[in-house]
Amino acid sequence: MNWRKLRVFLLTALVLCLIPATRYYQIDVPLLRFLRGSHHVDPLSLHLSGEFVENNLGTEQDADGSVTVRMIAQQYLFVPHCLLVPAGVPVHLRITSADAVHSLTFSGTEYAVKALPGTISVVELSFPRAGEYKTVCREFCGAGHYAMRSELKVVPRDQFPALRPDERGNCAAQ
Ligand code: CUA
Repeated sequence: MNWRKLRVFLLTALVLCLIPATRYYQIDVPLLRFLRGSHHVDPLSLHLSGEFVENNLGTEQDADGSVTVRMIAQQYLFVPHCLLVPAGVPVHLRITSADAVHSLTFSGTEYAVKALPGTISVVELSFPRAGEYKTVCREFCGAGHYAMRSELKVVPRDQFPALRPDERGNCAAQ
């Protein structure tokens, strides 16, 4: 047995395995698409097509009174920068990342939602009382990590439907 050849072979195999492991979300074959399920999303085309295009971001009222929030985390901001949701209703959050791993947290709560490139994290949140929360990234994501923070405004439930759709994702309307 030639140990040197074996070592070269193993190293090459390791490197070849590492490439798909780190770039897995860019590989597009039918079997992978099936295994990933509906939570897969291409981080490189978030802004171009699919549910995370710009005018789809923010808070959307659902038929049953709950809301759906779509959000992108990217170095070093959350988009939209300011969120508006009604108090006391289920908030279905769908978040993904355009680059690194981020973690979305809300001041004064236990909520922590990972935003991962290539995957849509889906969680249900609820904010019982109206108020303002700081949204802060809690996963070290690069040089600007400590500045990665934005805002969530929770308004009384009866005030929310009165807002126009284009005001709902935007705290400036308040
Ligand atoms: Cu994003 Cu830390």
